[in-house]
Amino acid sequence: MFINFWYVAEQSENLTDQPIRKKMLGQNFVLFRDESGKAQCLSDVCIHRGGSLSAGKIAGNCIQCPYHGWRFDGEGKCHRIPSLGKEAKIPKRAKIDSYPTTEIYGLVFCFLGDLPEKQRCPILEVKEYDWEDWRATTQHFQFDIDYKRSIENGIDGAHNEFVHPTHGFSGEDEDYKSPPIDMKLTEWGTGFFNKVYAPPLKEKKMREASGRAVNAVVEAGTGHHGISMLWTYIHPTPEILIHQYAFETPIDETSTSIYLINTRNFLTDPKDDERVMERNQVVAFQDRDVLVNINPVLTPNKIKNEFFVPMDRPLKRYRELLEKWQQKGWRIDSETVNNNRLSHAYAIPSPGRRKTKGWVVDSIPML
Ligand code: FES
Ligand SMILES: [Fe+2]
Repeated sequence: MFINFWYVAEQSENLTDQPIRKKMLGQNFVLFRDESGKAQCLSDVCIHRGGSLSAGKIAGNCIQCPYHGWRFDGEGKCHRIPSLGKEAKIPKRAKIDSYPTTEIYGLVFCFLGDLPEKQRCPILEVKEYDWEDWRATTQHFQFDIDYKRSIENGIDGAHNEFVHPTHGFSGEDEDYKSPPIDMKLTEWGTGFFNKVYAPPLKEKKMREASGRAVNAVVEAGTGHHGISMLWTYIHPTPEILIHQYAFETPIDETSTSIYLINTRNFLTDPKDDERVMERNQVVAFQDRDVLVNINPVLTPNKIKNEFFVPMDRPLKRYRELLEKWQQKGWRIDSETVNNNRLSHAYAIPSPGRRKTKGWVVDSIPML
C-alpha cells in the first residue's frame, strides 16, 4: 500500500453529525464535520493513552476522546486537557496527524501522506458529473482483493472477452484476437483506446438505447490515474456514451473499497438509475470473482519471470510507476507493521510532520 495519494474515505451524504471510523491503508482514521461543516480527517489514535477518537463525540469544532476527554480540532491541535483544568496551557506536543480533505463528486477525499500540495497527484476529474443531459450514479463495493490487482484488472483489455459475457464472446469466437491498443502515457497514468467487439445486449431497454441489436464494434478506452483511480469510456455508438470513474481505497492489504461513478448521456431519467447500477454491479462482481482467487494475492513487487503479452503493456507501465513511487519512499512496510501490531500504534505521516517536530505516535515504517 502506498501513502501520498488522495483516497476516498466516504460518501459525503454518510458523513453527518457523528464521527466515523474509517480504516484506510491498514490504519484507523476518524472523520467528522467541524462547525463550518468541513470534513476533517485525523489519525484515530489519541496521543494520550491511545483511545479511539472515533468512539468519542464531536464537541464544537473538535473531536473529544472518549477516554479522558482531550479535545482536538480538525488541524489536529489539542485545545483541552480536562485533567489539567480549564486555564491550563496545552503542551505543543499535544497534536495529532491531520490530513487534507476535499469534497467533490459527492465523495470525501483524504490525502494520506505528507507530500506538499504542489507535488500531489491531482484527483481524477469527473467532468460529466454536473453536465446537463448527463446522468451520474455512485455505487460502493467492498471486495476482499488487493487494490493494485483491481487497478491492473481495470487496465487489462484482454480479460473482457472471458470475464464479461456482455463485453465479448466468452472465448466462443474462434477468430478472436485482442484489438490493437493505442497507449497514452501521462505523468501519473497509463491509458489506451481500442475497439471492442461485443455481442448484442440482452436487456431490452439498454439495447434500444445503445442500438446494439447485432454484434457491435464498441469504441472503448480505459486507464489509471495515480495509484488507484480509473477511467473507462464505453461508446456503443458515436452518440451513446458511458464514462465511468472508479476511486479505489485500500482498507488494508487485502480488502478494497471501490467508489464507482457512472455517467451516461442516455436513459437519463432517474428511474433508469437502478437498471444501470444493476448492470454495473453484475460486471463488478464478475471481476471480483476472478480477482479473489488470483495468486499471489498482492501485485508482485518486482517483475522477474512474469509473462507479459502486448495487451499487458498498460499493466507493465503501472508496475513501473509502482516501482518509481516505492523508490520515493511511499510504500508502507506492511510486514513490519503487522509484526508489531500488538505493541505499536503508527500514524501515516501528515503534511504537518514536515513542518514541526515532537510527534508522539511513530510514523509508519516504509519500504
Ligand atoms: S486516551 Fe484520549 S484522552 Fe486519554
Ligand atoms: Fe472487468
